[in-house]
Amino acid sequence: MLRRSIILTAVLAFVLTAGMIQADEVSIIPKPVEMTVGGGEFELTENTKILVEDATQQVGDYLAETFEPATGFDLTVKKPGWFESKKNIIELTISDEISVGDEGYHLDVTPEKITVQGSDPAGVFYGCQTILQLLPAQVYSRTEVKGTEWTVPEILVLDEPRFEWRGMHLDVCRHFMPLDFVKQYIDYIAMHKMNTFHWHLTEDQGWRIEIEQYPKLTEISAWRKGPNGGKYGGYYTQDQIREVVEYAKQRFVTVVPEIEMPGHSVAALAAYPELSCTGGPFEVRTEWGVSRDVYCAGNEKTFEFLQNVLDEVIELFPSEYVHIGGDECPKVRWQNCPKCQKRIAEENLEDEHELQSYFIKRMEKYLAGKGKRLIGWDEILEGGLAPNATVMSWRGMGGGIAAAKSGHDCVMAPVSPTYFDARNSDSEYEPAAIGYTPNTLGKVYAYDPVPQQLTDEQAEHILGSQAQVWTEYIETPEHVEYMVLPRMSALAEVVWSPKKSKDWPGYQQRLAKQYLRYGAMNANYWAPIPKGLQEKNAFMQNGQLRLEEPVEGAVIRYTTNGKVPKADAQVYTEPVEITEDCTVIARTFMPDGKASVPVVGEYKKVTPHESVSVKNPKRGVKFSYYEGNFDKLPDFEKLEPAKKGVQPGLTLPDDVRENSFAVKLQGFLKVRFFGEYTFYTTSDDGSKLYIGDQLVVDNGGLHGSQEKAGTVFLKPGYHPITVTYFEAGGAHSLDVKWQGPVIKKRNIPANVLFHK
Ligand code: ACM
Ligand code: ZN
Repeated sequence: MLRRSIILTAVLAFVLTAGMIQADEVSIIPKPVEMTVGGGEFELTENTKILVEDATQQVGDYLAETFEPATGFDLTVKKPGWFESKKNIIELTISDEISVGDEGYHLDVTPEKITVQGSDPAGVFYGCQTILQLLPAQVYSRTEVKGTEWTVPEILVLDEPRFEWRGMHLDVCRHFMPLDFVKQYIDYIAMHKMNTFHWHLTEDQGWRIEIEQYPKLTEISAWRKGPNGGKYGGYYTQDQIREVVEYAKQRFVTVVPEIEMPGHSVAALAAYPELSCTGGPFEVRTEWGVSRDVYCAGNEKTFEFLQNVLDEVIELFPSEYVHIGGDECPKVRWQNCPKCQKRIAEENLEDEHELQSYFIKRMEKYLAGKGKRLIGWDEILEGGLAPNATVMSWRGMGGGIAAAKSGHDCVMAPVSPTYFDARNSDSEYEPAAIGYTPNTLGKVYAYDPVPQQLTDEQAEHILGSQAQVWTEYIETPEHVEYMVLPRMSALAEVVWSPKKSKDWPGYQQRLAKQYLRYGAMNANYWAPIPKGLQEKNAFMQNGQLRLEEPVEGAVIRYTTNGKVPKADAQVYTEPVEITEDCTVIARTFMPDGKASVPVVGEYKKVTPHESVSVKNPKRGVKFSYYEGNFDKLPDFEKLEPAKKGVQPGLTLPDDVRENSFAVKLQGFLKVRFFGEYTFYTTSDDGSKLYIGDQLVVDNGGLHGSQEKAGTVFLKPGYHPITVTYFEAGGAHSLDVKWQGPVIKKRNIPANVLFHK
């Protein structure tokens, strides 16, 4: 692979001259393994022919169909004959001579012809996706675009995916998504060179797949009470499912169906209450969350029902995997059910967790008998993992690590950062979403599915990763688009591109064109927010507003009167002096006119803090440590500490317990220079930082690790500093940083912290 590319690099470098297309103008996402750009270009015309062989016919037809709406060209797709011209052709072949792995391809564009060689048809398909990205972004338009030259730069690309599982999940149960959008979603998956569509088809709030043996699943389970008294829901017929599976197959996307068990199954129980422990009655749930009512694990009829359902599911989905859910199954009904208790006794099970394990193992065996593999959320590890099960790790990476260490395959799907139902940013203008901290584009891009603690051999068990789109708060296809675009382009790069090629600035540069593609598709993508605006800005005489366009080609518009900027608002071009208290609101306007959500910054004129005198200052800060049940910052005055002492810095004391506790840190900060100081806290859960009596950083509330900042002006000398913190249980952390005159952002060092 390398050898050939080195030779071609030399040849192409020779012809590269000024004014020609440069490598940084090429925007291939996910970034290819290797690429060399030359000086010429290929022009796609109505006479371009697509040459195929048997194995690439499907891809050739797809490519011609995909070109058609925007270009208006009805390209000929044919097998080559001796009389064919050697010019103006796109040749699609399978080759076992190229040195790329499964799904890999080799793309060679010269002014005369384009050659795609794939190691398999999927590889050829991905080579064609790259061709689309090399064309002007308008090629993604669904209507004809006149007056465009459809040119492709001379280029050589060698490419293959890093992971075999590159997926997107979609919950169509909390809110039903129309069939056309499901296909559109598959198109998004394919254009990002992803290959797995995890279709979450059953839930407490709705059953979405027709099962012929159980008609009540679509008569009753597919519908719930709507918000205005009507009924809400829908389902896909088996014909529609087959249509989706075929559509996906044409795009090398495998559809993995998810049929939830033993929990998240109230919709099915509403139709068949005899499958529950209590006998019901039940209604298809209208509230989100977790239900206590689940399938009865002691009743043989439950297994008969699920096996019959799976029989039909298996017929519909050629996927090697069937996802059986397995998550969030409360055990309270099983604890009180004679049938479940009898099962526990007869099977010599330790407890209800082992009963869950019994349930999953039984389903795994059933699926294995049908030639299928079981995959489930990481709760399937509880009570012992079924022998050949694959784990989908959502509660962090821990489940995946445990699976990989015990020799099981896993797919990484951690809440942070692959739950795309989390907000895109912490702008207060983001649409209502589930309460996780935002999974920003940057966070998704920085993610790596392979945890460091695994050996190379264990890491082989990580099949890849996928993003989750749960739809409690997402009611429409447009809103799904807003949550997945462009984050799935970042995830695509994570799961496709070599780890060593991670390059955030380069990715952002390429993203500029990706946004144009989304725009050409009329997709309701999330437009990136302006960079650089802090929430709180304190100034003395003059403040400064400094912003940065988040992507090339976009402009920022802003107001200082508290109104949301519209398309005619002031354009930001350079730093702006602020002289009075005001609220700045800024938005990005994309080249296609789309605007981002607003970001808000408060500017406040302040007087500097006077220093205080401290007699006999001693090194270190005082800490008080409290035990109790805290879900917010307590009133420390009313509490008796479990421990007190002095420690060097603004950190959590040593030896804190795992469950709920609170901490107060108090001391004096010695400041050398007059000026503006910004303090930052990153904490899990909440914290507050005070200088004197002023609350400077408000990072309170129950949350995962998140950073907040605040600014004050300090005169030289000693300033009282207090940090309060609480932990509600689970992970705990506190990190305090500052930045000021001649101080780069860093932790506050022990040599400026004192107490008396
Ligand atoms: C899940 O989010 N309950 C898998
Ligand atoms: Zn039971």
